[in-house]
Amino acid sequence: MSNPSRHPRRCGATISAPVVSIDSSDYQLVQLQNGAWSVRSNAEGETFHPVIGPVAEAESLYVQQLELPQRVAESAGKTFVIWDVGLGAAANTLTALRALREIPGHSVRMVSFDHTPIPLEFALRHAEPLGYFGGYEDHVAGLLKSGTVEFAHGSGTVRWEFHGGDFPTRLASSDAAALPCPEAILFDAFSPARNAAMWTLPLFRSMRDRVDPLRPCSLATYSRATLFRVSLLRAGWFVGAGSATGEKEETTVAASSLELLRRPLDATWLGRALRSTSAEPLEEAVYRQAPLSEASRQALMNHPQFR
Ligand SMILES: C[S@@+](CC[C@H](N)C(=O)[O-])C[C@H]1O[C@@H](n2cnc3c(N)ncnc32)[C@H](O)[C@@H]1O
Repeated sequence: MSNPSRHPRRCGATISAPVVSIDSSDYQLVQLQNGAWSVRSNAEGETFHPVIGPVAEAESLYVQQLELPQRVAESAGKTFVIWDVGLGAAANTLTALRALREIPGHSVRMVSFDHTPIPLEFALRHAEPLGYFGGYEDHVAGLLKSGTVEFAHGSGTVRWEFHGGDFPTRLASSDAAALPCPEAILFDAFSPARNAAMWTLPLFRSMRDRVDPLRPCSLATYSRATLFRVSLLRAGWFVGAGSATGEKEETTVAASSLELLRRPLDATWLGRALRSTSAEPLEEAVYRQAPLSEASRQALMNHPQFR
């Protein structure tokens, strides 16, 4: 057990300490100030859901902002594909599935990516305090064993698959063409400063390339960093402000179609980005901060969102 006085959070700043922690070699279970438990990676020094806890964050950040229940209901008769980037301990995945459970006739394909299943194995061993596994334990065990599970799910069906390995490498490879096109993306990597490979312009371009023009896609994540939003815009996404969650005053929602955004970034945001000292997208997996290049300035000013 440990109780550090300050505790690095996912965005790289610090927050109040968790009140309790249970250690293992690579991961810890930490209890947050509100009593919820979350998983923390010791190697990365980041807590997966650091302030309001796994379920509350997954609901507000992903389920509500991506309007998953409505969009799945509207897709009746077709399989709705969700990419779950950074499966981790599956809090986002299981919270999303639970929110879809009673939608009549739903068919969901959950495509989870992570370079390691270890946080999920760890979380399953601590399912009770984490509190979001209820009813899904056997499916998680099946996923860990076989890589794919299919199951009846309330009023519908789910196929859940796990794609191990480095996500940017997979998307840049010929394997990417075999992935089903996403209609919603739960994007939950570690912070850009610690996990730069997951926040590059080439990666967001690869994801945008996988969207089917006939099946619009939206993506949500916790970051509101200007360089991240510029990366999305330059990669061909439309980008909007997302609601507050936990310690975040604002998050980000992107979409392949402007109609999917409730609060598109506007000229005021563009003006701030043009003046920002940390706005230029990362071209490679090395974190650095820089103002916009001339190419990025032109790309932003010509983006259909601002024309
Ligand atoms: C914040 S955690 C995800 C938490 C998870 N969504 C949940 O609900 O429990 C970030 C995850 O991204 C994964 N990750 C980081 N870099 C990656 C990469 N290059 N390829 C694949 N997965 C990566 C980490 O292994 C980690 O599990």
